[in-house]
Amino acid sequence: MRIGVLTGGGDCPGLNAALRAIVRKGVVDHGDEFIGFLDAWSGVLEDRTIDLRIASLRGTLPRGGTVLGTRRGSPYDHPDGAERVREALHTHRLDALIVIGGNGSLSIASRLYDDLALPIVGVPKTIDNDVAGTDRCIGFDTAVQTATNAIDRLHTTAESHDRVMLVEVMGRNTGWIAAHAGLAGGATAILVPEHPFSLDELCGHLDRRHRNDHFSSIVVVAEGAEPVSGTMAMGERHFDEFGHVRLGGIATSIAHELDHRTDFEIRVTTLGHVQRGGTPTADDRVLAIRHGVAAIDAVHEGEFGSMINWQRNEIGTIPLCEVAGRTRRLDLALYDLARVFFG
Ligand code: F6P
Repeated sequence: MRIGVLTGGGDCPGLNAALRAIVRKGVVDHGDEFIGFLDAWSGVLEDRTIDLRIASLRGTLPRGGTVLGTRRGSPYDHPDGAERVREALHTHRLDALIVIGGNGSLSIASRLYDDLALPIVGVPKTIDNDVAGTDRCIGFDTAVQTATNAIDRLHTTAESHDRVMLVEVMGRNTGWIAAHAGLAGGATAILVPEHPFSLDELCGHLDRRHRNDHFSSIVVVAEGAEPVSGTMAMGERHFDEFGHVRLGGIATSIAHELDHRTDFEIRVTTLGHVQRGGTPTADDRVLAIRHGVAAIDAVHEGEFGSMINWQRNEIGTIPLCEVAGRTRRLDLALYDLARVFFG
């Protein structure tokens, strides 16, 4: 078969491991040929491709980012975009297209399958871990490890100065990274979008910890965290060129509020894109390899319009239409468990 591959949305560690597995499995087991579309859907619309071979992917397993490049944006931003995707598949004589992406790219893949019956298989990746229908996305484990390492380092300086350190992590509108890194890093409190925070409650946790134990604290703040409605002024919202809200800065707003309400010394660390960079963890590499191999199986079994998923420790598939347009929110049972350690 001739198979096209693209990586869409924000990059993350593990994308190259998935590409390498796709190509290796396809070439070795089926004699498949591969092309990679550069910069996600842009490469499809502008016919920018590279050949993907086993040799050309050597050495990429531990490399973060994506050798194919990626961009935000959708073929549906153009009136004839979907038709141009169909033409690209035809021009390159492709029997299948594997889309490695997050919520945005997988929703586009689902729509292309529904509208034009294109032979598409999706693979979920995003540090946010918020793709519906799967328990674990490629890139999440590495982001959590990076955030946990940062929190471990912040503990010692926080302790030396008896400070409150606010650590802002990514995750868009979900608190998966915050909850996992906060639990693993022994946070005094974790603020997530799924549970609006109360500043009074937060001050109570900090007070107890600093006044009784005379000990510093780390507060992990998800970038999408929000206060209980009407309890704190929120800064102006900014949007990117595709109309997505650009998150970031909530920890700084909280720090200003805490400055007024308490006499603690407060510092803010925003981890930002460092969570998306670097080499994937062993778990992310194995997950990426399993997804890549399963994507080739799905293509050869003709399971188009599906996404590879990982549920209850098993690899499988789920229809893309059950994933499109949905967000997997943080498991509140996990958040309740984390609350045991607050304060
Ligand atoms: O979806 C991944 C993610 O890193 C989010 O956690 C974050 O809000 C967003 O992408 C940042 O996007 P950009 O790289 O476009 O600034």
